[in-house]
Amino acid sequence: MKLFDVYPLNDITIVKAEGSYVWDDANQKYLDLYGGHAVISIGHTHPHYVKRLEDQLHKVGFYSNSIKIPLQVELAEKLGKVSGKEDYQLFLCNSGAEANENALKLASFYNGRKKIIAFKNGFHGRTSLAVAVTDNPNIVAPVNQTDNVIFLPFNDEQLLETAFSQNDISSVIVEGIQGVGGINVASNGFLQKIRSLCDQYNAVFIADSVQCGYGRSGKFYAHDYSGVNADIYTMAKGMGNGFPIGAISIAPKIQPKHFMLGTTFGGNHLACAAALAVLEVIQQDDLMKNAEAVGSYLISALKKLPHIKEVRGTGLMIGIELPEELKMVKRNLLYNHKIFTGEAKPNVIRLLPALNISTVEADIFLAAIEKELNNS
Ligand SMILES: Cc1ncc(COP(=O)(O)O)c(C=O)c1O
Repeated sequence: MKLFDVYPLNDITIVKAEGSYVWDDANQKYLDLYGGHAVISIGHTHPHYVKRLEDQLHKVGFYSNSIKIPLQVELAEKLGKVSGKEDYQLFLCNSGAEANENALKLASFYNGRKKIIAFKNGFHGRTSLAVAVTDNPNIVAPVNQTDNVIFLPFNDEQLLETAFSQNDISSVIVEGIQGVGGINVASNGFLQKIRSLCDQYNAVFIADSVQCGYGRSGKFYAHDYSGVNADIYTMAKGMGNGFPIGAISIAPKIQPKHFMLGTTFGGNHLACAAALAVLEVIQQDDLMKNAEAVGSYLISALKKLPHIKEVRGTGLMIGIELPEELKMVKRNLLYNHKIFTGEAKPNVIRLLPALNISTVEADIFLAAIEKELNNS
């Protein structure tokens, strides 16, 4: 059997990883500022993470949600504390798309409505409702198409108000910082407006924190910068540092009913151990503070470099927009300087490193990109 060929691949095989570095099968070392697509939050093969998973595997790896799993309760308590939403409720699942799928469904259960507001350049996943609220017709199959989604321009408060006044809105789904869409930061005023309209119309504010959450922005959820709470936060990527796990954090006003949501694998013992290890390291090593500090350092240094059109982002979620003719810089960083970065559009480099990178790694990257920009 062959693999179903859906991913364009770099010709690189990674066989070893530690902290913010990975090695290929020829023992070439790379600096990883991509974090396997914002997934590596506490660094590759972190010793505490490895030990917690190893210990758990020797006890019990999996049992279904038909029994008590105290690790889930421990995770809920810890996540409530670290995220500053202790009165919220946790539902565990397996991926970002599944988290969004459950959030949208829960909103509709809550207020009995169907219409969803989503935004231009937003990305929320590839399953049925998650892809329907994603602004990319190329990945929406005919069976996913629905009239229930209204796409509005990002950060436009006026059109948001009009849409609410003309439709029976169930929920609004919004990334605090759009990732796939090119690192666009939601303004505080825009998020505050979503909050007040959701309150006015009893709609549900869903904060997609799958990429921008889990401390990456310097706050636990990027939406926290606005000073208002969402009704549901969705998360995945950094949550398990590579172990597949997703979740939704749900405001107290939304009440559960048995069988309303469910999953076979969600919240299994190993996944909870991974997620707990991540939160323990985030807390012990003050990683949100580090993300904010190293992120600000990178952003201000990048703003001084030549040829860059714009630097966007917050904390360690950074987009570097280059002129079209310089789109090869990302590839050159990988092949000339052995630095992995992400891409949003071909000309936007995305930095999504582990939250514990230091200014040493930041300086290696800054020297490399400066060299590429000066050579172009
Ligand atoms: C903001 C956002 N939401 C949802 C998803 C989907 O997550 P997953 O690939 O785990 O289904 C992604 C993935 O890139 C994302 O960036």
